[in-house]
Amino acid sequence: MPEYRIIPKPEWYEEKEGSIEVSLAAEGLRPAEFASDVYPIRLVTDQTLEPEAYVLTVSENGIEICASGDAGAFYGMVTWRMILMQVEKKDGRKVVHCLRISDSPRYSYRGVSLDESRHFFGVETVKKLLDQMASLKLNTFHWHLSDDQGFRVESKLFPRLNSVGSRRACAGLRGCSLEHRGGEYFHYYTQEEIREIVAYAKALHIRVIPEIDLPGHTSAILAAYPEYACDLNGIPRMFATASESGIFDAILCAGSDAAMEFVDRLFSEICPLFEAEYFHIGGDEALEGHKIWAQCPRCRALQEEQGLHSRKELQGFYMTRVGKLLKKYGKKAIVWNDCINDSFSQDIACQYWIADNAGEVQRQSRMRDVILSLTEYFYFDYKYEKLPLEKVYSFDEEKIGFGGEDQRVIGLECENWTEFTDTPEALEFGLYPRIAAFAEVSWTRRGRREYRDFQERFAWYLSYLDSEGINYSRIADGSYRNTDSYVFHRGADGEEFLQNEKLKLQC
Ligand code: ACM
Ligand code: ZN
Repeated sequence: MPEYRIIPKPEWYEEKEGSIEVSLAAEGLRPAEFASDVYPIRLVTDQTLEPEAYVLTVSENGIEICASGDAGAFYGMVTWRMILMQVEKKDGRKVVHCLRISDSPRYSYRGVSLDESRHFFGVETVKKLLDQMASLKLNTFHWHLSDDQGFRVESKLFPRLNSVGSRRACAGLRGCSLEHRGGEYFHYYTQEEIREIVAYAKALHIRVIPEIDLPGHTSAILAAYPEYACDLNGIPRMFATASESGIFDAILCAGSDAAMEFVDRLFSEICPLFEAEYFHIGGDEALEGHKIWAQCPRCRALQEEQGLHSRKELQGFYMTRVGKLLKKYGKKAIVWNDCINDSFSQDIACQYWIADNAGEVQRQSRMRDVILSLTEYFYFDYKYEKLPLEKVYSFDEEKIGFGGEDQRVIGLECENWTEFTDTPEALEFGLYPRIAAFAEVSWTRRGRREYRDFQERFAWYLSYLDSEGINYSRIADGSYRNTDSYVFHRGADGEEFLQNEKLKLQC
C-alpha cells in the first residue's frame, strides 16, 4: 500500500529511502493555496515532457517539479498538495517520504458539464466546482447555458433573451418531483460574471466551453424572438420558456436568413467572452422540430435547393453553416451524436452521449474528433442505484467500440443535467464521489486501473470531501449506505434518496 493516496492514479509512483521534514501542511487543494513560494519547490523546465506531464521528486535535496510548461507544473503542484494533506505529524514533526512520481494524462480532454438552464447555481457554486475539478486534474468545463427552460447569458444585442428567455413561470420543473417549488424563476450570468469565471478557470488550467443548444431546445430563445421560428401559415407562433422537462418541437428555422443572421450576431457577442477554441452548438433531440421543418415552406425550399435527402441532412447542412459562422470568431463546433451523419462538416467534433447510432458514431470517429459521455457511464444525474461508483470506474472505451488507433477520441466528459437537481447540495450529491472515478478513467491509462486499488485510495478522498464540506453521496457503494445523508429532489420515483425536511422548500 503506498503511503500517499493519489487520485487520479499517477503513471509511475515510487517511494524511496529516506524522508524530509516539511514545515507546512496543505489545508486544501483550492487555487488560492497554490502560492508555491511558501514551499521550497524547485521548478525545472524539461521540454521533452508532454504539455500536461510532470515529474515530482522528493529527495533529501528537496522538492522538485519538472515540466515542459505551466500546465504540467500545475499538475505536479496538485499532486504535491494531495501528498501534503496526507502528512501526519510524528513526534511533533511533519515528514514526507522521499519519492518519485512521473505522470501524464491518458486524454487531453477531461470534462465536466453543468446544465444551468434547467436550474441555475451561480458564480460561487461554479467556482467551487472548478476548484474540485482542478484537484482531480480535470481540465474542461462544458457549460450548458441555453435550453428550453432558460437562456442564461446576458445579451446586450438581444435583451429579450434575458427579459423573456431567462425567465420562466415556475422554479421547479413540472414532471421532476419539483412541483412544490413555486414562483417565477429568473436568472442569467452577466457578461462580467462569465469573464470572471473564465479567468478563474484559466488560473486552474481549465478551459470553459459554452453550449448554446441549436436548432432544437430553443423554447427560451423563441419565447424571446418568435420571428426566428418557422413560418407555417403567415401567423407567428408563440412560445414560452418551458416550466417542465421534455423534448419540445421549438426549433429555429433553417431556411430563414434572418434567423441565421440572428445566430451570427449572437455568437459575435458570446464568442469573445470565452477563450476555448471549442464552442458547443448542441444539435440533440431535434426530431420533433424536424416535423416543423417538414411543414415550413422556407425549410422545404432550402432542402430541395441543396439536394438534401432528409431532415437529418438538412440539420447537417444547418449545423455546418453555424460551424462556419463560429470559425469567423476563432471557434470550432461540437455537436451531440444523435444528429451526426456525413452531411456535417468534418471539422465539427461529435460528443457521444446516446448509443442509438453507435455504429455510425464509431465510423464518424475515424473522420472527426469525438468526446465520449455515454449515458450509462457518465450521466451523473442518474441515480446511484442505476449508475454506481464501480460502474463509472469500469468504463473502457474498447468495450463500447472506441479503442481503435485510427479513432479520434480526444477525451471523456461526465454530464450533470439538472431537471431534478435544484440546489448546489443536490448537484454535489450526484457529482461526488462519482467524479473521482471519472477523473481516474480520464487520466490514468487502462492497464494501470484496478477498482480495488482505487477503493483503497478513495477512502482518503472521502475524508477530503468531508473536510471541504461537500455533500457527497454515501450510497455510491452499497457498503456504506447511510440513510441519514442529505437527500434532495432527485426524481419522480423519489425512492433512492430521503428528503431532508429542513431543506424542503415551500410553494
Ligand atoms: C442530451 O443528454 N440530450 C445530450
Ligand atoms: Zn423553417
